[in-house]
Amino acid sequence: MLKCTINGKEVQVKPGSTIIEAYMKAKENIAHYCWHPGLSIAGVCRMCMVEIEGNPRLQIACNTTVAEGMKINNTSVKVKESVEWTLGFHLINHPLDCPICDQAGECGLQEYYMQYGKYEPGMAEHKVTKDKVVDLGSKIVLDKERCILCSRCARFTEEVSKTNEFGIFNRGDHSEIGTVDGMPVENNYALNTVDICPVGALTSKDFRFRQRVWYLKDFDTVCNGCSTGCNIKVYFNENGLYRVKPVYNEKVNGYWMCDVGRDVYKFADRDARQVKGLRNSNNQVSQDFAGKIALEVSQHLNSQKADSMAVVLTGQYTVEEYKDFVSFFKAKGVSQFYHWINNPDKLNDFDGILYRGDNNPNTKGLAKTLADEGIKVKPWNELFENVESSKVKTVVVAGPEIQKFYPDLESVFTRLNKADTLVWLTPGKNDLFEKANYVIPTKSFTEKNGTFVNHAGVEQKIKKGVTVVSEALTLSDASQLFSGKTAVGFESNVSKGHAGATL
Ligand code: SF4
Ligand code: SF4
Ligand code: FES
Repeated sequence: MLKCTINGKEVQVKPGSTIIEAYMKAKENIAHYCWHPGLSIAGVCRMCMVEIEGNPRLQIACNTTVAEGMKINNTSVKVKESVEWTLGFHLINHPLDCPICDQAGECGLQEYYMQYGKYEPGMAEHKVTKDKVVDLGSKIVLDKERCILCSRCARFTEEVSKTNEFGIFNRGDHSEIGTVDGMPVENNYALNTVDICPVGALTSKDFRFRQRVWYLKDFDTVCNGCSTGCNIKVYFNENGLYRVKPVYNEKVNGYWMCDVGRDVYKFADRDARQVKGLRNSNNQVSQDFAGKIALEVSQHLNSQKADSMAVVLTGQYTVEEYKDFVSFFKAKGVSQFYHWINNPDKLNDFDGILYRGDNNPNTKGLAKTLADEGIKVKPWNELFENVESSKVKTVVVAGPEIQKFYPDLESVFTRLNKADTLVWLTPGKNDLFEKANYVIPTKSFTEKNGTFVNHAGVEQKIKKGVTVVSEALTLSDASQLFSGKTAVGFESNVSKGHAGATL
């Protein structure tokens, strides 16, 4: 390790580290636009100026390596004046449309202007105007005027997605970011360029104009879009969920996430959710509290023989939920457990970056729980045969959370609905479910604590971040209600719709 001093603080860094990495390690602020830890070094923005003791010229921190004993600062008047000048150059052609810019509140230019700017502009030239609101396909809008030519987006598409859509065209003050012939940017990692654009030049069509970022709160969790389990932040406020962004995890997803995962918040939000329990008796559908429906299911299960019941599980619940759910049915003597795999042919697909064909966050956790309980899952087709021959009279299904990943949902539902009694537990709504005998809304991944085990066996904890459907149950809550064991006062809480929270 090498020792160096950053703004008077001594830190140790690995040999070969750059000065900007030493700043990150020392947790000292340093202005930067073009440097990103997940991309190659460009050294083009000249914002990361530092003064190194004994060196008469200022240096850029992102492309200068640390030497033993270096004394570095970015707090001197010389550095501050230099950064102020650099910022002035970045602002020459930047439009002052902050009030309508969707990056306001998260913009590097705004932040550094407050830190280093607030000066009288010394430029007499007119701004060079460039194209605004350039449509780059289904996901991204580009505002060329706002771009500060940091080249992060171009390096991302060259180095990470390897799709090479972005480039910097023309010369001098006519240089501009763009795509060849304005081609759309439709690769499955495109929205990472919006995240890393330090100004509001690239914005997400999905998020634009829907909320100001300062009205949003956030929490960390794990994406449930595939078995990679990227670490993400979910942004929300009292009106609902708004977006997700990746969170760095060296072992799982690095700095990135895919665009399929960007949509997971939509399936956890109220519009997509089953908010009430349903019962269908003689084709009369009625709604009730989830907990109450679960207690009715409990009575039904008590009246059934164990060998006439089958349980179907999907890989979208937590390990803890599987344990409780499976133990309950096992204790009842049920031995028919089935694993519903959404797309068996694509299960092992991998795009070479992050995205996997298994659209479940916890296939491994489910397999491990079943193995720990000594349960061997039965062949999938046997379930339909047993339902059709009435060997199975009651089917209890848990899942899926994101229905679009289960293209066979309708056909599976129709075949299972031939059973005398179909009990369906799910977070997501679907008109189809009105035909089941009982539907119990379950909590989504944003609403519960638990563990997902990803494709590589990495165990990741998820934590409850926000409650969207207050009366939805976890599979653990449902198991407890199925067993008829309810805590004191629980019955009244069930009717108030707070079953999950007060168990
Ligand atoms: S669009 Fe954004 S990320 Fe791309 S070069 Fe311009 S400022 Fe940088
Ligand atoms: S790769 Fe998988 S886990 Fe990661 S963001 Fe995409 S869908 Fe989510
Ligand atoms: S961050 Fe160092 S030159 Fe841009």
